[in-house]
Amino acid sequence: MVDVLILNGPNLNMLGLREPEIYGTETLNDIKARCTKKAQALAMTVEFKQSNHEGELVEWIQKALNQVKGIIINAAAYTHTSVAIHDALKLHNIPIIEVHLSDPMEREDFRHISYIEPLAHSVIKGHGAKGYSEALETLKTLI
Ligand code: DQA
Repeated sequence: MVDVLILNGPNLNMLGLREPEIYGTETLNDIKARCTKKAQALAMTVEFKQSNHEGELVEWIQKALNQVKGIIINAAAYTHTSVAIHDALKLHNIPIIEVHLSDPMEREDFRHISYIEPLAHSVIKGHGAKGYSEALETLKTLI
């Protein structure tokens, strides 16, 4: 059992190679290491996962029921499309922080809708990889 589940959606496994001018140069492994270090400093434990598959993310969210105290999610493109992830997150009665490396509101119109936001305690966007550390700090105050 861990305190915080950190979930990452499709194409985030390609960070480092993927549009570095938008997403920065840190790889997902770098972000994982950053989160592990930050969690240790905050005396918290984290599980860090990524999937390109909507159903797998849904199953991980379901399995976390009553197992974690908070969720950080960068659902990537599924943010803007997935009622299934919205519904799965709705099962939880724990703080959820939505994170985006970029600020989707400053990009294409199709990124302006978030199905996560109505369920999120807060949204951290446009702060790059640092946003994950900030999300952990926020959760520390909530759980
Ligand atoms: C993203 C923003 C999404 O619009 C995009 O589909 C991503 C990454 C971000 O972290 O900035 O894959 O979630």
